[in-house]
Amino acid sequence: METNDTLKIERNPLWEELMCYYSCAIMEVETKFKVLDRQFSLEHERNPIVDIQSRLKSPESLLDKLERRGYERSLNSIEENIFDVAGVRIVTSFIDDVYMLGDCLVKQDDVKLLRRKDYIENPKENGYRSLHLIIETPIFLRNGKKMMKVEVQLRTIAMEFWANLDHKLRYKKDMEPNLLKMTTAELTECAALSAQLDNRMQSIRNVIDNI
Ligand code: GTP
Ligand code: MG
Repeated sequence: METNDTLKIERNPLWEELMCYYSCAIMEVETKFKVLDRQFSLEHERNPIVDIQSRLKSPESLLDKLERRGYERSLNSIEENIFDVAGVRIVTSFIDDVYMLGDCLVKQDDVKLLRRKDYIENPKENGYRSLHLIIETPIFLRNGKKMMKVEVQLRTIAMEFWANLDHKLRYKKDMEPNLLKMTTAELTECAALSAQLDNRMQSIRNVIDNI
């Protein structure tokens, strides 16, 4: 096993292997959602999923996170401590679809729910909303199966719209303090508006579905 100084990223076959397994886990989870989307669209003549975005955490931010959190710099430590190496984001039109898809995923018998954070029910102070699930699911290899952790973020288009702008603002560190304060406050207000929009659109959806 590697020690602090020996965790090499470049030309390390064990690193490559682990990252390959994480990307396989992403494929598995994407497929699970695509299947759910297909089945739902057969029954209801609409697709609950608007977009699926996936990403593998970059080596730099992976090592950065280990360091920040004070975890050992090793492949084992990554597998044990970092829950968002593999990330899958599901964007829906409606809030109910977020919960429907999240519930369907965690009910599958090869999915183990490790952690659930409902920032829709309990938005963050800045107004951030999304449903976060950390799950463990198997990938099937030549010599057996391997359980992999995946972070799944489910959110509506409105939540996605907001989170993207919030993300942009976070990286504008050089903004004049007063302007930053005003813009941040404005963005938090927009979060409340977007939550309102989600709820009203859901109500209209419900009316239409009940006809
Ligand atoms: P990390 O932030 O990943 O270290 O873990 P955590 O345990 O604090 O997890 P949390 O579930 O709170 O957030 C994980 C991810 O959700 C982040 O990496 C972002 O992608 C997203 N996220 C959380 N809070 C915010 C936010 O305020 N704004 C935006 N734009 N994204 C957020
Ligand atoms: Mg993260």
